[in-house]
Amino acid sequence: MQNFMYHIPTKVLFGRGEIRKLGGEIKAYGSKALLVYGGGSIKKIGLYDTIVNILNENEIPFMELGGVDPNPRITSVEEGVKICREKDIDVILPVGGGSVIDCGKLIAAGTRSGSDDIWGIVTGKVPIREVLPVITVLTLAAAGSEMDTSAIISNMETHEKTGPSNPGMRPKAAIMDPEYTFTVSKRQTAAGTADMISHVLEVYFNNNRGAYLQSRFAEAVLKTCVEYGHRAYNTPNDYEARANLMWAGSWAINGLLSKGAPVSWSCHAMEHELSAYYDIVHGEGLAILVPHWLRHMLKEENVWKYVEYGVNVWGIDPSLPEMEIANKAIEATADYFKAMNLPSALREVGIDESKFDIMAERAGKGLEKAFVAMDAGDVKEIYRKSL
Ligand code: NZQ
Ligand code: ZN
Repeated sequence: MQNFMYHIPTKVLFGRGEIRKLGGEIKAYGSKALLVYGGGSIKKIGLYDTIVNILNENEIPFMELGGVDPNPRITSVEEGVKICREKDIDVILPVGGGSVIDCGKLIAAGTRSGSDDIWGIVTGKVPIREVLPVITVLTLAAAGSEMDTSAIISNMETHEKTGPSNPGMRPKAAIMDPEYTFTVSKRQTAAGTADMISHVLEVYFNNNRGAYLQSRFAEAVLKTCVEYGHRAYNTPNDYEARANLMWAGSWAINGLLSKGAPVSWSCHAMEHELSAYYDIVHGEGLAILVPHWLRHMLKEENVWKYVEYGVNVWGIDPSLPEMEIANKAIEATADYFKAMNLPSALREVGIDESKFDIMAERAGKGLEKAFVAMDAGDVKEIYRKSL
């Protein structure tokens, strides 16, 4: 296990009705809020009205930025920064899923950056200085942005999807009421579950054999996703399923699982190119790529990790030959996604090989420290196998 620093200070208010504490959490950090939300789901579920009432009852003046797209655009971030600067906003309140929260985080990082090059903040060209506090209300269990330090933004003109990680962007507080996710569609429930499973697999498959506890933590999160992903998909208002899935989504990516066992991510790098060029649903891109990524990396010298995965997560018979366990574990993963009607081939989401070279070139950078070092050639091979 390698040295690490553990500091995950997000205050989580979890469960039915916790929204009533929102006013106090905002006032602890600021006095004028920017309410950020997406295409309208929070209005449909009545959450928008609840929050506006809370802000008014607590005499917290606020501005709004609605209409944030899935795969949030830099244009929304720039619009939010403009509002915050003009209206002297000092706390950001994103209410929604990962797209809304990521947009809110970058608005928080851009407002007092002193720079008008907000895309430069996203790409890391412009340093992040003071980040406004982010208080979030989660409505979709998936990205895990409610407790982590990252934010991913798309520039549809240049077909780039990227983003920084900065401790200041970690939300100060997250209100997580599973009931808000009862209305999440089957499609988004499936995509979100695939996203969380991929977050765990990206750090679970690492070469640090001594990081025993991290691996058992990761297996626990994986088993929770496996158990409750299908349950929430089949019974959308199953509170226990939605609660466990929501909590698993946060721990899949908030940093705990990679402590002492650092590894660079590879499957996400490949998927972000798909979303950047084709604007597909992030979790659907991962459901297609993950099984091929796992197959591509499997070798005699790392089969031990696949055996852990197959036996401890999928309950595969440990007395079988190691390679057989490994392949059964990969099949179980692919079958699990298929059972939620997730796509299993790029063609199903309108992607052909025409942009493989440019996407592989960009995704292939920085994968030398992944569980299995990869380059553009590996990425292109995985795209090809995923067609
Ligand atoms: O537009 P709204 O009204 O919000 O509707 C959304 C959207 O259409 C809808 N939705 C959300 N909550 C709902 C609901 N519909 C009904 N009932 C509810 N309670 O679901 C759709 C998808 O929302 P979105 O926020 O895009 O989904 P998700 O949470 O999966 O976020 C995906 C984004 O997260 C980024 C992805 O790149 C993608 O842009 N990620 C962020 C990460 C991070 N910050 O660390 C890591 C992840 O790997 C991921 O890359
Ligand atoms: Zn993801």
